[in-house]
Order: sequence, then C-alpha cells, then structure tokens
Amino acid sequence: MTGQIDTTRPHPARMYDWYLGGKDNYPVDEEMGRQMLTLDPRVPVMARVNRAFMHRATRWLARNGVRQFLDVGTGIPTEPNLHQVAQGIAPDARVVYCDNDPIVLAHAAALLRGTDEGATEYLQADVRDPDAVLEGARKVLDLTRPVALSLIALLHFVSDEDGAHDLVRRLLAELPSGSYLVVTHATSDFTPEESKAATEKLRAAGVTLALRSREEFTRFFDGLDLVEPGVEVPHRWHPELGEPVPGQDDGVIPGYGAVARKP
Ligand SMILES: C[S@@+](CC[C@H](N)C(=O)[O-])C[C@H]1O[C@@H](n2cnc3c(N)ncnc32)[C@H](O)[C@@H]1O
Repeated sequence: MTGQIDTTRPHPARMYDWYLGGKDNYPVDEEMGRQMLTLDPRVPVMARVNRAFMHRATRWLARNGVRQFLDVGTGIPTEPNLHQVAQGIAPDARVVYCDNDPIVLAHAAALLRGTDEGATEYLQADVRDPDAVLEGARKVLDLTRPVALSLIALLHFVSDEDGAHDLVRRLLAELPSGSYLVVTHATSDFTPEESKAATEKLRAAGVTLALRSREEFTRFFDGLDLVEPGVEVPHRWHPELGEPVPGQDDGVIPGYGAVARKP
C-alpha cells in the first residue's frame, strides 16, 4: 500500500519520531505527542527503552546465529537501525523492513544502505495482510531457513477485531523451526487510568491503541519456547547486551518485551 502523507491527523510512526527527537513529523503529531506527555511525561524514555530493546534483541539473535530478519512496523529510520546492528555482527545478514505508513517509504532509502555481503530491502505492506508481507519477504529471504520476525512496538496498533493474534500465527506458520519471534508491546497493567485516557485521546484522533495485559501479550508466544528471562519489562531483558537508557529506572515502563524460538 502506498499513499499520500496525511498531515491532518497524527500517525504512530511520526509521533514516535517526535518522541525520539527526530525531524520527520508534523505539527499534528507533535500536538498529540504533547497531549500524551501530559498523561505520562516518560513517553520519550519509553520510546528510547523500546529502541534499545530492539538493539539488544537483534544483537542476541545475530550472536546466536540468526542471519535473516523480517522487521514489520519498522518506523522512520533512526540510527542504528536493525540492519546496522545485525550486519555489524554478521555482515551477510539479510534484512527485510516493512511498514504501512507512506512516511516510512519516503525515508526508506536510509534503510537500504547495508553491506554488500548481505541484503537490505524495504517493503510497503500492512501487517493485517500477512500474505502480502510474506510474499514480499520471500523475494529476499529464504523462508526454508530460520528468520527472526520482529514486531516491535507494532501490535498495540492492531486491534483484536483485526485479528492481532491470528496474524502473528499466520506469519509464524510460514517460518521454519529455529525461527524467532521478537515482540515489544505497551500495556495498561501498571498505569490503568493514564492508559485509558491515552487510548481515548488517540481513538478520537483516528489512531487505534490496543493495550494488552501480560497474559494477552504472552499469548503471542503460544507454541514457542521463550528465551530467558521470558516476558519482562523491556529494559530488564538482557541488559548486559547494551547501555542503559537514562531515566529507565526512575518509574514504571508500561510495556513488555520477549523473544521466543519456534521449536
Ligand atoms: C512505534 S513505531 C515502532 C518502530 C520500530 N519498530 C521501533 O520499535 O523502534 C510503530 C510502527 O508501526 C507501524 N504500523 C502501525 N500499524 C501498522 C500496520 N498495520 N502494518 C504495518 N506497520 C504498521 C507504524 O507506521 C510505525 O512505523
């Protein structure tokens, strides 16, 4: 799906860019970002903690022999991007990025500067159409060999009505044994009042936010073997693989992260 950049309503990719201090966002994104900050001033810390989880999980996977990555819900490029982390360890790593927001497509050139030995490609597709994601991925990745499927800070934008759990199952069904699922996800478990207010504000602006409990999050990994330490708040997952994010321990980070292997 391609399309025009819609600057009349906020978009998750652009709000996230604003939280991270990027320049690829519009006044409507900043305005909604500021409203989120009035509910929880730690949102920018959460964004950095989430990004740091992606770096550590990718490092862990590359060091454990994974050479193919399918990253859906990539976001606007922010260095280091996933392929830079993976190819920094394994230059032959093959990476497919995928997002449904036209702003990511507009900046995708920055995602394509990978190693000569590996492959780095961008696919414009919606995760709610897993067959389109798989069809695009197949052009670059060998789906008979293990793939790390990363859905990082993505699934809380996909409602139950849109079949969030089913589409993860569908994507994993096409990946062989030895593949991995990597997910981070926002939750209302720790901050129910603020979460409810954030969900309502975003819904009024046309953005779906489907916060999930620990149990609902853990269900994404049904049938898989969770890598130690299992389901954790994101900054406590293998902290030794990266640097701490300033402020990460100053209060609750309302999210979960986990990595699991397909047996
Ligand atoms: C919060 S950003 C996360 C970016 C990156 N994964 C990270 O964690 O740093 C969420 C991304 O998911 C994308 N997204 C939201 N809904 C999507 C969908 N249905 N299909 C594909 N991408 C989607 C947004 O456009 C945005 O780029």
